[in-house]
Amino acid sequence: MDGSVPGLPEGLRGDYHHARPDFTLNQDMAAYAEADHATWRTLYARQAALLPRHAAAAFRECLARLGFAGGVPDFAQVSARLRPATGWSLVAVPGLIPDDAFFSHLAARRFPVTHWIRRPDELDYIVEPDVFHDAFGHVPLLLHPDFAEFLAAYGRLGEQAARIGALKPLARLYWHMVEFGLIREAGVIRAYGAGILSSSAETVHATEGRQPRRLQFDPWRVLRSDYFIDDLQPTYFVIEDFATLFAAMAKVPEMLAAARDAPPIPPGTAAPGDLPCPLG
Ligand SMILES: [Fe+2]
Repeated sequence: MDGSVPGLPEGLRGDYHHARPDFTLNQDMAAYAEADHATWRTLYARQAALLPRHAAAAFRECLARLGFAGGVPDFAQVSARLRPATGWSLVAVPGLIPDDAFFSHLAARRFPVTHWIRRPDELDYIVEPDVFHDAFGHVPLLLHPDFAEFLAAYGRLGEQAARIGALKPLARLYWHMVEFGLIREAGVIRAYGAGILSSSAETVHATEGRQPRRLQFDPWRVLRSDYFIDDLQPTYFVIEDFATLFAAMAKVPEMLAAARDAPPIPPGTAAPGDLPCPLG
């Protein structure tokens, strides 16, 4: 493959040519330069400093069990910790992968992690997800039993959604509740979403900013809510616990067709029935 992959944007950075048909490849630990590990450590230290105040307790506790501080993690070693805990493992991929491959991996409890790391001039923002976003942002909660079940259930829905043309509502669920999810802990709003916790600006904006709309999690609302892919989010959804997220997956299949046909709610706008979740 020459960088043009069906179902993916043009010009992606990764080497899709050497990927297997399921888009996995081998993570070559020897290929990381010391500068790559230094970039990881810089990003890690910066985000770690924000976590006590801004991150969900579950995220912090799970991250602490992973030993991620020293450099780009070895996916095989991480998988050896995940498997006995929740049955998940990591697979290395060149970057974004097509929907069907992505859903298949999640349904089989394999989390695709981009193997390359951003350049030093991209510390603050990167267009494509890299290993820091994927591993630091997504992997800790794979150790959490309820979140782990939720994400596998999400993957299992992909096939149905594709069949009925409802991938867009399903993508909104991932965006709002996996990438940009918030949780309320003892009255305080904290972040657990990977898109928030792998970005210092979004971490503060999401949990303390005065502008964003924060709404109590409602799967029907989420399935209809459009989002910005290249700006801070104007709307976030707040859960009370991860069991609620998993429980909602029982109701999502019957909502998909209606969500596909419903008018989308533009980013940042209000909708009837919204239940605001004020800052503590
Ligand atoms: Fe992500």
